[in-house]
Amino acid sequence: MSTTKKRVYVTRRIPEKGIQLLREHVEVDLYEGELPPSKEVLIQHTRDKDGLLSLLTDMIDLEVMDSCPRLKVISNYAVGFDNIDVAAATERGIVVTNTPGVLTETVADFTWALLMACARRIVEADRSTRLGEWKTWSPTLLLGVDIAGKTLGIVGAGRIGSSVAKRAAGFNMRVLYTDNDRKEDFEKQTGAKFVDLDTLLRESDFISLHVSLTEETKHLIAKSELGKMKPTAILINTSRGPVVDQEDLYDALVSGKILGAGLDVFVTEPIPASDPILKLKNVVITPHIASASVETRDKMAEIAAQNLLDALFGKTPRFTVNPEALSARRS
Ligand code: DGY
Repeated sequence: MSTTKKRVYVTRRIPEKGIQLLREHVEVDLYEGELPPSKEVLIQHTRDKDGLLSLLTDMIDLEVMDSCPRLKVISNYAVGFDNIDVAAATERGIVVTNTPGVLTETVADFTWALLMACARRIVEADRSTRLGEWKTWSPTLLLGVDIAGKTLGIVGAGRIGSSVAKRAAGFNMRVLYTDNDRKEDFEKQTGAKFVDLDTLLRESDFISLHVSLTEETKHLIAKSELGKMKPTAILINTSRGPVVDQEDLYDALVSGKILGAGLDVFVTEPIPASDPILKLKNVVITPHIASASVETRDKMAEIAAQNLLDALFGKTPRFTVNPEALSARRS
């Protein structure tokens, strides 16, 4: 690898392994703030950089790219990359990379944690016990719903969807899935049955979303879809907030159209304290932490750093979102 000191901007302190790896090969300008840099700061610091290591909270749009003429690579510290205008990057010969694979099992574990917390009302029970509301053992205290033997519906048959589906075998569940096309590998690995979205909505007891956010998947789950679910259904979202119409979901939860929801992602993040969904007992809410394990965040840091270095030094990064840009890289 060439030792030419290229310069990169890192928009937040990622685990040390990633920072160290970068520092061995390039000059690193590290944003130390706790909150994301403003667009102004982002542009100001990226203007003279060859590479950018961004987080999903950084909007990397046309304006950023056109203000940073030396920029050759945007390495996103996430599997999702809806915060980046990939088409604009490709047009400009800017390579975009992400960190898939390493977070699959971690996100799948967390999806199940949310599912189980909703089904068995774990968060509600914890709060109520701490508040001293536990008066006696009661046949009807905090009744939840069973998981074993029920039907799990997976929307999006990618890596995470597959890992979530595999875990259902331990619960003797029937698994349905939907995607644009049938995925034979997915079926072999999970034993899941391919159905259309309507069938999945009508027949599943638990519905878990594992699609990327695109124009097609925005509001994939809205009033009409929620209306097709069972009144005992529980919706889990660890993908991206806008995949669900949050206002319609609120109405469905309040009116009892569905039983509950486990949400790690929101239309606006952080979710505003005034959002009425925060008041609902039948929702378990977490702050976009599905991939947040020590091991996984370390691996994400190493991969994001390595992707960035590979793209900068003329190699093919392990995870390139827009391979078309590789042959037309900015010099
Ligand atoms: C991702 O990687 O896209 C997750 O949402 C955060 O790890």
